[in-house]
Amino acid sequence: MSEHSANPSTIAATGRPRAFKAVIPAAGLATRFLPATKAVPKELLPVVDRPVLQYIVEEATQAGIGDVLLITGRGKTSMVDHFDRRPDLEARLTEKPELLAAVQRPSELAEIYTCRQPEQLGLGHAVGYAELHVGEQPFAVLLGDEFVKPSEPLLPAMLELQARTGGIVLAFFEVDPADTKRYGIASVEPAESELTDVGEVVRVTGMVEKPKPEDAPSNLAVLGRYVLPATIFDAIRRTEPGSGGEIQLTDAMELLRNEGTPVHAIVYRGTRYDTGMPLGYLQTVVQIAVERDDLGAEFRKWLTEFVNSDASGGPST
Ligand code: UTP
Repeated sequence: MSEHSANPSTIAATGRPRAFKAVIPAAGLATRFLPATKAVPKELLPVVDRPVLQYIVEEATQAGIGDVLLITGRGKTSMVDHFDRRPDLEARLTEKPELLAAVQRPSELAEIYTCRQPEQLGLGHAVGYAELHVGEQPFAVLLGDEFVKPSEPLLPAMLELQARTGGIVLAFFEVDPADTKRYGIASVEPAESELTDVGEVVRVTGMVEKPKPEDAPSNLAVLGRYVLPATIFDAIRRTEPGSGGEIQLTDAMELLRNEGTPVHAIVYRGTRYDTGMPLGYLQTVVQIAVERDDLGAEFRKWLTEFVNSDASGGPST
């Protein structure tokens, strides 16, 4: 059993239930991280001693979600093994209770379900495979290469906001205006006053994929967390392949927005880790490592010495 069992009765002020299932699309080809990801899913790359995917499932669990659907693809089934029990290994660890608990923990986090996206035809296409599992209720989507600092959670406010509006809820983070061409960028207006107690909420009036700085409507970039109504599945079916020949989740959401579904977002000002490419991955590992109780102090000391040394190309002491 998971720590958190599914709880559809968690009700927001409006009387609508909060989303209690999460979908993690993790079937992508991870081309930005080749060749490491030729045989190892990027979701299993370790951040210190836990795979990225565990941080993501923990983020969902922390928000009260106990039902997680992993969308997997060819060569990616090892992701599921991480959340399974390992009695053979556990039997060898009886003298090492901390390690034993660490090995058991992933299997206790949530009920993990899987389905396969047979061809990698885009994020929207991948999310479409969640329909049977999700059913009629709203649900969260957590991209498999991004997570936020546990002490600065994002998902609880998103779940509350979706239960209030019944629409689509996104999350944005601010980027340097010169960098807009690397992200999906939103145009926004102030949110209705009754929603602002949930967090820094904006109403979304449009989205542009990777605009040049001079064409960008804002510097608010889309973060890999979504809370969606089940109507998204029909919208995905009606979405033609878009950018890169892929069925884009953004296009399906735009379809719903144009038909009147409200779209809001939380502007997230906490710490976001992006492990989808080497630089962001390295930054994530360093940030998490320096904060670890067990090895942070030693690693920080070494890191300081290293950046000040000739070996790093930094100032020599
Ligand atoms: P990305 O845009 O990061 O694509 O997908 P990717 O394949 O993982 O990585 P790059 O860009 O080639 O390096 C965003 C999320 O959507 C999933 C990915 O696994 C990732 O979590 N995805 C994408 C799918 O599940 N299926 C797809 O067809 C595409």
